Amino acid sequence: MNVEKGCCQTAANENLVEEINRLKKEKNAVVMAHYYQQGEIQDVADYVGDSLALARIASRLDDARIIVLCGVHFMGETAKILCMDKKVLVPDLNAGCSLADSCPADDFKRFIEEHSGHTVISYVNTTAEVKALTDIVVTSGNARQIVDSLPRDEKIIFGPDRNLGNYINSETGREMLLWNGACHVHEQFSIDKIVELKKQYPHAKLLVHPECPAPIRIIADVIGSTAVLLKYAEESDNKEFIVATESGILHQMRNRCKGKTFIPAPPNDSTCACNDCSFMKLNTMEKLRDCLRDESPEIIVDEELATKARRPIDRMLEMSSKLGV
Ligand code: 13P
Ligand code: SF4
Repeated sequence: MNVEKGCCQTAANENLVEEINRLKKEKNAVVMAHYYQQGEIQDVADYVGDSLALARIASRLDDARIIVLCGVHFMGETAKILCMDKKVLVPDLNAGCSLADSCPADDFKRFIEEHSGHTVISYVNTTAEVKALTDIVVTSGNARQIVDSLPRDEKIIFGPDRNLGNYINSETGREMLLWNGACHVHEQFSIDKIVELKKQYPHAKLLVHPECPAPIRIIADVIGSTAVLLKYAEESDNKEFIVATESGILHQMRNRCKGKTFIPAPPNDSTCACNDCSFMKLNTMEKLRDCLRDESPEIIVDEELATKARRPIDRMLEMSSKLGV
């Protein structure tokens, strides 16, 4: 019974992969996927990466007519801002982000007005409206280096992630003013369960995303964006790793690092051993096929807003290239 079910599922998946590949060609579409997507979506994508890589790739895509961004809404919106001449689709328009939601543009604008004379730095996990209020956008892959490259006496507002902001403050010795936002997934990791895992796997390195709160960052062996954690796992001689970020990254880690063991760090209130972003996991292979077929749902950004939101993204891309990150 199980075997039969498994075979049917495999055949169904093969059909879906074929359909998706056929539609990509027919429609001149490129599929981009974030590391937090389901493994099968990552496997069928033309490009897989962290937020920084996806923004970089989108900024350089010339030929494609359609981009399907398998990630959350702000990622599709960033791709659209960088490629206004292309149709940008997301498999599920409800794939939001709790961190982006924690920073409504009107409230952020008031915060900026109350603290005039500050350079405004925003994490890419924000709406286009927030980006339009921003001087420099950053991702977890370049935030520390970009902040560090600014003059020491430059006053900075950093939003919306208080954990990433706090991490940069402690690494650079700055006192950036922080917006009080957070990601519900990265705030969910259980320090007690991680400490238990460290006892069980005493040789394991603990890999931590900077969106995690300080108590988890303090016991980390490595802190970095998904791409940084992946690279570390690939290059390290170590054989075991505890991974404190969304569980989608484990797919690439296991694929690229045969013979190494990756243990997902568990969340607080769950019987499940790993930590999923429910928004990221709204995207499925069926929805990816349907959105290619129907050319919908589409991300629409007003031209004027896109022009304002693009400036700080371009600034990030330029600074990031100069800094080599
Ligand atoms: P990355 O910058 O590592 O891609 O992270 C994006 C994100 O949404 C983390 O929760
Ligand atoms: Fe947003 Fe957190 Fe999901 Fe990343 S993991 S997309 S920050 S809710």
